[in-house]
Amino acid sequence: MADQCDLCLLGLIILSSLLTGTSGVDDPHVFISSGENVRLSCNNALSDCKSTTWIYKRYRYSAAVELIDQGIKKKDTERRKSLGSDCSLNIKNVTEEDSGLYTCRQFVNGEKQETDTYVFLHVLHVSVSPSSSSSSSSQTEISPGRSVTLSCQLYSYNRFPCDHLVHSEGLQLLWVNQAGVDLTIDSRYQILFSSDHCNITLTTTLLNEDDNREWRCQLMSCLLLLL
Ligand SMILES: *[C@@H]1O[C@H](CO)[C@@H](O)[C@H](O)[C@H]1NC(C)=O
Ligand SMILES: *[C@@H]1O[C@H](CO)[C@@H](O)[C@H](O)[C@H]1NC(C)=O
Repeated sequence: MADQCDLCLLGLIILSSLLTGTSGVDDPHVFISSGENVRLSCNNALSDCKSTTWIYKRYRYSAAVELIDQGIKKKDTERRKSLGSDCSLNIKNVTEEDSGLYTCRQFVNGEKQETDTYVFLHVLHVSVSPSSSSSSSSQTEISPGRSVTLSCQLYSYNRFPCDHLVHSEGLQLLWVNQAGVDLTIDSRYQILFSSDHCNITLTTTLLNEDDNREWRCQLMSCLLLLL
């Protein structure tokens, strides 16, 4: 684990505060970093959560899974997921596998109401390679002189793939230092995007002074920042 390394690397994720936790009626897109907790609000909830059903789909063509069925949590639903007192869906310690489409549906006397609401959950996740734990030994030394790659991937429901978000919402992934400065301009770092712009990797050779240094993957929205 990180605390056993010579050098502690941290791929910390911050989101533009303008985007964090947006789950209003007009904006069904919610952006969150893995490891955080999130609340997805149900805008069509009736006074009583006994009518509330939450349905999840990871991908457009994957099977829909009922997480909450008319106010009752399904047996197979993970402990991390629960129904809030306001009928929202709470997810603790979000993982990249929680990304996808969440539908809040109401049933009255067993009859589906017409007012489904949707929330698209996008999860930002950072991974380190070489990883700090390996199967053959209890730890891998990440020491000066070694090259390290930090990958930051935005996981989204595939009806809104990253390239769509990049073009229509002006979203952008960046690697920044502790002071928030974009590292693209620093020749020490090699920064590459995947073709769909969903994965930004930072590669660098570690220096002694990197001990405890923090690199952050930041999700920004150019459009929102103009407001
Ligand atoms: C959060 O999830 C990660 C990955 O699934 C796991 O390794 C970690 O222990 C979890 N943390 C807590 C506080 O449950
Ligand atoms: C992101 O890109 C890097 C470099 O191409 C690759 O090693 C890594 O596996 C990718 N991450 C994901 C989650 O696809």
